[in-house]
Amino acid sequence: MKFGYFDDEKREYVITRPDTPLPWINYLGCQAYFGIISNTAGGYSFYRDARLRRLTRYRYNNVPYDLSGRYIYLRDDESGEFWSSSWQPTQHDLEDYTCRHGMGYTLIGSRYCGIAAHTNYFVPLDENLEIWQLTIANQRSRRASLSVFSSIEFCLWDAQDDATNFQRNFSIGQVEIEDGVIYHKTEYRERRDHFAYFACSGKVEAFDTQREAFLGPYRSWDKPAAVERGRLTNSIAHGWAPIGAHQVKAELAPGESRQLIFVLGYHENPREQKFDPPESQTLNKKSVKPVIAKYLDSAQVEAAFEKLRQYWDGLLAICQVETPDVHTNRMVNIWNAYQCMATFNMSRSASFYESGIGRGLGFRDSNQDLLGFVHMVPSRARERILDLAATQLPTGGAYHQYQPLTKRGNNDIGGNFNDDPHWLILGVAAYLKETGDWSILDEPVPYDNNPGSEQPLYEHLQRSFKYTLDRLGPHGLPLIGRADWNDCLNLNCFSDTPGQSFQTTTNKDGKVAESVFIAGLFVLAGRELAEIAQCRGLAQEANDYLAQVAAMEDTIRQHGWDGEWFLRAYDDFGRKIGSKECLEGKIFIETQGFCVLAGVGLDDGRAVKSMESVAQYLATEHGIILQQPAYSKYYLELGEISSYPPGYKENAGIFCHNNPWVMIAETRVGSGDRAHDYYSRINPSAREAISDLHRCEPYVYAQMIAGRDAPTFGEAKNSWLTGTAAWNYYAITQWILGIRTSYVGLEISPVIPKSWRGFKATRIFRGVTYHIAVERAGEGNHVALKVDGVPIKGNTVLPPAGGRKEVWVEATLS
Ligand code: BGC
Ligand code: NOJ
Repeated sequence: MKFGYFDDEKREYVITRPDTPLPWINYLGCQAYFGIISNTAGGYSFYRDARLRRLTRYRYNNVPYDLSGRYIYLRDDESGEFWSSSWQPTQHDLEDYTCRHGMGYTLIGSRYCGIAAHTNYFVPLDENLEIWQLTIANQRSRRASLSVFSSIEFCLWDAQDDATNFQRNFSIGQVEIEDGVIYHKTEYRERRDHFAYFACSGKVEAFDTQREAFLGPYRSWDKPAAVERGRLTNSIAHGWAPIGAHQVKAELAPGESRQLIFVLGYHENPREQKFDPPESQTLNKKSVKPVIAKYLDSAQVEAAFEKLRQYWDGLLAICQVETPDVHTNRMVNIWNAYQCMATFNMSRSASFYESGIGRGLGFRDSNQDLLGFVHMVPSRARERILDLAATQLPTGGAYHQYQPLTKRGNNDIGGNFNDDPHWLILGVAAYLKETGDWSILDEPVPYDNNPGSEQPLYEHLQRSFKYTLDRLGPHGLPLIGRADWNDCLNLNCFSDTPGQSFQTTTNKDGKVAESVFIAGLFVLAGRELAEIAQCRGLAQEANDYLAQVAAMEDTIRQHGWDGEWFLRAYDDFGRKIGSKECLEGKIFIETQGFCVLAGVGLDDGRAVKSMESVAQYLATEHGIILQQPAYSKYYLELGEISSYPPGYKENAGIFCHNNPWVMIAETRVGSGDRAHDYYSRINPSAREAISDLHRCEPYVYAQMIAGRDAPTFGEAKNSWLTGTAAWNYYAITQWILGIRTSYVGLEISPVIPKSWRGFKATRIFRGVTYHIAVERAGEGNHVALKVDGVPIKGNTVLPPAGGRKEVWVEATLS
């Protein structure tokens, strides 16, 4: 069953009924000001950091799930009836409800009692504000006397404190109102130099800024007393809960329509110019007023919207494909790329499942996110790499995450994840391959943000690699530390106390438990580092890395192989995890996917065997399960992984993030059929028809789909912020379609299904547009290339001579 449809032409997903199984959301803003918006206008806004600069309130885990947002009420002032055109919060039986989620905007509209109302929500490029552009049309045959009410609830900036520190916060809220603009200035009188504002293009009849005056006691957003009465009260918030609500009258003749613009924004003043006059306590509004005036003008709003459209046209044009599979095309050309922008911006901080106060930008996560983002805005990828590296510790280890606003490492959710440092190497490698910008390696970057500790970025990579060599265990495999990619494989935790954090508790010295996964990661990162060293003319260093890599491969063969698949780890007792000898958790996906994609076992049959085992034991119709059999009870020595009921999350859920590792691994053993088949099983667009089972948005990946051990097998959870986005994008574009960036040029090595006759692609790479046509002449994956009609040797197209900006590439597969 579906709840909407894809409009590929417009690059929109159109939701045709409001009661989707879960809120289906979108992101507004892609630079510094952000909003999350659901298909019924729920959600919130923030500037840079969802925890430290939250503009509007949102109550997670609410009942109903998604309540509080950017709500507009319409009231028929003759009958007194009022409703919301976004369905929530009044839940009227609307006609023609549609929500169009597009690239950086969401358009929600409907008709009720002959009044059509549509609101386009978006954040203009290069601005710290959002626009709600409302169009109301009277489709009745008589006049309509309407009141329009806007509403938002301000958050007192620090979202964590806002949700907990009521003894203080009920007494600090402050606002100012001038010319119908509501300014939220809580804590501005003391140390803040920023405020929020909420403005409206219509004549403001009345306003409210105190929540209780607007809603009335014992009421919620579905029945605000002031809306019911038809008159806001001009309340001025002092303490309690500041809100912003405007009332505008709209008299519409039959057939007449009217546009109203609301602007919600964030503004900073220089510290010494906070007040106007300077000795007063009144906000200095001099520099914000022109911004407000600009965006209350509909021509300016149209222009800003057009600019946003063009921006996305440009970003998506960098990689466009035309394959025989509509779901592949749609995800690559539109939605997967779009999701990669969201994960780049948010890491794992703010979604409808990440509360914005739990996690900032993850070191591991953000590095991986670059794989799917780096081609879109390389300059931002560069900045991100330098920020990440600046949080690296002198040991080569890393804070597991940092706060986006302060760019400082945050120890709250622990450190010592021994895989972390290697992801920096992979992130930098992806950047170098995309851009050829070798200068980044010479950038001075501090350790732990300590001034004076700056060393070239290249040294950070060296320390990342060495980090593992300094931490090898009894079998010569890398010690796991707190955990590796699998945050829940906590082999040194041994937690028996309810509520203890698996992410920070450690009861073992960590000298025994080893990770075969990190060994595979070390092989991949080591090969990249060797190539980077080679390109920098450091041949000896490159050879050393390759020698270490070869030694690690040997160790994996000796101690990381179980006969039919790669082992997963050794626990604190030196016992195998992910072995046929285990009662539960006999085989894990991570080491099959990652070791093979890193090239381990390609020459000795292990890779093929490992892939066979995945197909036999882990693959299901809804994707590849993380491990089997699921853990049926809690194992003290394994940690959080066994805390989940079987079939969920890391305990035998279909963890979509590591499915693409297997897809890439399948391309490495030459099976395009299997690679693309696995790709299709978790492709959200291909699952659209089962939206009632899948439940999450059909246009973006979710972190997890319940595994076959769960009663809800096939149900997705935690949509949007997941490494799944970048890895699937990377797997399909660079490995299955095989348009692969390399240090020297663009490699073309497709491993596509046998049934495909070929495909076409356009890829803009280092300023050159490559028009690529792939044609099948036989069943294999051998590639013969012609560049501008001339056959070339090998699979790599080098940058064209003579400053040419367009190149035609023909690839024949046989
Ligand atoms: C989740 C993991 C997540 C970790 C982060 C765990 O509860 O299962 O997926 O990475 O929390 O803190
Ligand atoms: C989600 C986390 O964000 C990611 O870092 C981790 O690798 C996976 N969960 C698996 O535990």
